[in-house]
Amino acid sequence: MSEKVRTAGWRPVERLEMQGAPDLAEPLAEALAVTGREDRLTHGFHTYPAALHPDAAKALLELVGGRSVWDPFCGGGTVVVEAMTLGRRAVGSDVNPVAVLVAHARSQVLPLEIISRMRSWGRRIAESAKVYPDLPRDAAVREVAPYYEEHVARELEGIRVGIKGAPQEVQELLIFALSSILVKVSMRESDTRQAKVARHRPEETTSILFHKKVRELGRRLEDLAAAVPPNTPAAEVKVADCRRAHPSRTVDAVVTSPPYPAVYDYVPLQTLRTAWLGLDDGEARRAEIGPRRAFSADRARAWKAWQEDTEAWLGQVGRALNPGGRAAIVIGDGVAVDRPVDALGTIERLGAKVKLHPIARASGDRRDLGAKTVRREHILLLERR
Ligand SMILES: C[S@@+](CC[C@H](N)C(=O)[O-])C[C@H]1O[C@@H](n2cnc3c(N)ncnc32)[C@H](O)[C@@H]1O
Repeated sequence: MSEKVRTAGWRPVERLEMQGAPDLAEPLAEALAVTGREDRLTHGFHTYPAALHPDAAKALLELVGGRSVWDPFCGGGTVVVEAMTLGRRAVGSDVNPVAVLVAHARSQVLPLEIISRMRSWGRRIAESAKVYPDLPRDAAVREVAPYYEEHVARELEGIRVGIKGAPQEVQELLIFALSSILVKVSMRESDTRQAKVARHRPEETTSILFHKKVRELGRRLEDLAAAVPPNTPAAEVKVADCRRAHPSRTVDAVVTSPPYPAVYDYVPLQTLRTAWLGLDDGEARRAEIGPRRAFSADRARAWKAWQEDTEAWLGQVGRALNPGGRAAIVIGDGVAVDRPVDALGTIERLGAKVKLHPIARASGDRRDLGAKTVRREHILLLERR
């Protein structure tokens, strides 16, 4: 069972428009127009805000070609997983430690015996968490305690402690399964809404859900292992600020979706997870590009920062790409305090400064989930000259 996801990015687009040679622009338009949910492999296991549609990621990977790809804003790792199914060397990075946990755990091709060891540890941990005693918790967890019923927090603590006692090679997978339920068992409205809502979970159902998610993860990892061609290199996924770093080896392609200006605050959306999983989000808080909170505080300053940040990460993409390599960038124009901001034009202009030349694009209007805002979204194809 997967959590209900607010998949704003996967709603239909209107007023589709293309530029560039049809053999490039049409696939871009098709990728932009993909709608609905797609749950194959490890995709639907863990929510991540503003995730790309797996079919869109796959279409873009096929269009850019090459044998290696970097997603510098990898989020939950959609591009990394799809790249592996195409046998590519996949590199993903993100400044948010939750993104990196999700992207790394879900892109691993594992031997069946590790998957089965994870299952048996999941069962054992869930059994003991049902009756875990009420012991003192650390400060980070106490801070998010108001979002949990007392017995739910006690079971979560039992799971957390149980995972620490599991063998190293299954710990990350079990943490990933724990991470996938932390919002669902809380009283937080959803992954993208922080409001507290009344929600009751009977005793023991948190442990039962954890065990169910471990079994689901096992099935999905088996599917992934079967879908990835033999000899595909293991994905490299790590925490990095893409304004300052690029992969040590150059790549043939980039497929990515940077934060749309003024749309999300990725770090605060993950506070339940960073608290329970003991992750440090300090660097992400400082380095996150285009957060809504910055635009609400001072629009002019935030827009200037977004442009400087964009120039910096495009510079890294320019350095990472082999000559002739292509970058497909999915971006939306923001609406910052009632005024539109032109993300597309800015990327086209700044890309040209680092030898990334626009060769095609597709654009369309997408309504958000509440249908209150219409945002112009684009997929831009750049070529490294
Ligand atoms: C639109 S999301 C990417 C979603 C991803 N394509 C997926 O399918 O899950 C944008 C990501 O950019 C990341 N980000 C923001 N600023 C960053 C920075 N300076 N360096 C690297 N990643 C950053 C955010 O943490 C967020 O995960």
